[in-house]
Amino acid sequence: MGNPVAHSKSPMIHDLFARQCGVLMDYQRIQVDIGGFDQAVSHFAAHDGAGLNITVPFKVEAWNMCRRDSNSLTARAELAEAVNTLKFCDEGLVQGDNTDGVGIARDIEQNLQLSLVQKRILIVGAGGAVRGVLGPLLECGPERLHVVNRTAEKAVTLAHRFNQTGFDCITGGSLDRITGQFDLIINGTAASLGGELPEIDPGCISSHTLAYDMMYGDEPTLFMKWALDKGAEKAADGLGMLVEQAAESFRIWHGLEPDTASVISFLKKY
Ligand code: ATR
Repeated sequence: MGNPVAHSKSPMIHDLFARQCGVLMDYQRIQVDIGGFDQAVSHFAAHDGAGLNITVPFKVEAWNMCRRDSNSLTARAELAEAVNTLKFCDEGLVQGDNTDGVGIARDIEQNLQLSLVQKRILIVGAGGAVRGVLGPLLECGPERLHVVNRTAEKAVTLAHRFNQTGFDCITGGSLDRITGQFDLIINGTAASLGGELPEIDPGCISSHTLAYDMMYGDEPTLFMKWALDKGAEKAADGLGMLVEQAAESFRIWHGLEPDTASVISFLKKY
């Protein structure tokens, strides 16, 4: 469920997973009117729906729904304050999860072969998309995770929230005050959507930096091109994250782990 949702590649991804695993499932895009989310979920559940993925702009509404009544949230969804996966349990109860963070961590560590243990990570952006991935990235054990944002206070507040949950290595600051170089730089801003680039100091890039854009498209994003131009070793878009978060949702619903590498390479050629 989302709005807009027509562009979503998720039905194709889940169809490929279902075929691989021999599961019969019907996964469709559902366009939901703004203000109509709760009603759309109730309608889906009443018609024997088993699970949902939730995308922009309903992830926070889905989180709020799971905090109400006897519904529940996983620990990572609670921390993310956003839900992208709903599982309908017995007696009409709903469990909310967030698989985005696991998705990006698996794409970086397994597919792109960059272990995050003791690494220095810079994340640009402090909106919902970034909040959703911080917990799982911190759990990978980086030396430092610095969040920067155009509106710096938002990055500082976000870092403090995670400090309070026991993660000491996370700090927050402004785009124009970044010190040192980073092994991994993640663009989690919505800037690419408008064909813009966040104003990041290129001094944060070294010859072994992986530049990762959480967005994806048919072409390398502006951020990827900028980072390679400034000397980054590698740049990747968020297609792998999309497939990995979908695989984690599939696991939650079916208890099966699909092969993601073949799906990523299929989508790259598609
Ligand atoms: P999302 O759910 O996609 O994260 P959001 O919560 O609205 O959406 O957050 C958008 C993020 O992109 C914010 O970090 C925003 O920065 P501000 O907090 O300063 O608004 C960032 N952003 C959007 N356009 C940007 C641009 N042109 N340059 C830099 N940052 C940008």
